[in-house]
Amino acid sequence: MRRTREGIAAAAIACVAFCGTALAQSKADDGLAVGRQMLAEDNPGELWIDQGKKLFYEKRGPKNASLEQCDFGLGPGKLEGASAQLPRYFPDTDKVQDLESRLLTCMVQLQGFKREDIVKTAISPAGSRGSDVEALAIYITSRSNGMTMNVRLAHPKEREMYKAGEYLFHRRSGQTDFACVTCHGEPDKRIRLQDLVHMTDKKQIQEVVSTWPAYRGAHYVVRTMQWRLYDCFWQMRLPELEYASDVSIALTTYLHYQGNGAVIRVPGFKR
Ligand code: HEC
Repeated sequence: MRRTREGIAAAAIACVAFCGTALAQSKADDGLAVGRQMLAEDNPGELWIDQGKKLFYEKRGPKNASLEQCDFGLGPGKLEGASAQLPRYFPDTDKVQDLESRLLTCMVQLQGFKREDIVKTAISPAGSRGSDVEALAIYITSRSNGMTMNVRLAHPKEREMYKAGEYLFHRRSGQTDFACVTCHGEPDKRIRLQDLVHMTDKKQIQEVVSTWPAYRGAHYVVRTMQWRLYDCFWQMRLPELEYASDVSIALTTYLHYQGNGAVIRVPGFKR
C-alpha cells in the first residue's frame, strides 16, 4: 500500500476506534492508552518532519534564503537541544520567544516573508496538508528528541513571563468563568470522553510538554502548542488568542518550566 499521509492517517484513526473498543471491556483508559502506544510507533507526524526539514534548508521567500542562519538560542543553525530551552529571552528582539514566535522572526528577517502572511496561515485547516510553520516547528523540535526540557528563568524578562503565565493559568475569566486550572488542576477529570490532563501533577505536565508538536488524529494534521492554547481559549469562550502573542508565550513559559526534566519525544500523538 502506498503510504500516503491520508492513508496512514485513516489507518491510525481506525486503530484509535478499534483498539479503543477492543480493549474497552477491561478499562477504557487502559485500552486507549494501549491504542495510543500502538499509534505512537507508526505516527503519521513523521511525514511532517521530513517536510519541515526540506523547508528548513530550502532557499525561500523574497530574500531567497534558507533558515540555516536562524538562531533558536544556541547559535545560528544549531537545532540540537534548542527547543528544550524554549521559551527564552533573545537579546536581538529584546523579547522572550517560544519556538513559533522565533520562527516568525527568522522567516521575516532572513527570508523576507511578511509576518501577517505567515500568521494568517500558521494554523492550518483540519484535513489539509498542514502549514509550513507546523512542519518547521515539528522538524526543529524533533532535533531535540531524547533531550531533557530545561527552561531557565535566568533573565528578568523570562521571570516576568513565567509569573504572567502562572497568573493566567490560575485566573478565572470570560463568560464561563473558567481558569485553565478549572479543567486541568485535578486528577481524573473528563469532558465527554476526553481525559483532561492534570497539569499541576509533575508527571502529567512533563508528558504534555515533551509531546508537542503532535499529530492530531481528529484533524489529520500536525498541531503545535500555539494551536493547543488557541483551542483551549476557544473552549473557555475567551477572545481569540492571537498567534505568537505575549499571552501565549507567557502560558508556554509557565507550562514548559513546570515540565522541566521531561525527555522530548515528538511527534506526539493526540486524539
Ligand atoms: C473547559 C475545559 C478546559 C479549559 C478551561 C482549558 N482546557 Fe486545555 N484542554 C481541554 C481539553 C478538552 C483538552 C484536550 C483533551 C483531548 O483532546 O483529549 C485540553 C488540552 C490541553 C493541552 C494539551 C494536553 C496534552 O494532551 O498534551 C494543553 C497544553 C492545554 N489544554 C492547556 C490549557 C491552558 C493553558 C488553559 C488555560 C488558558 C486551558 N488548557 C484551559 C479543556 C480545557
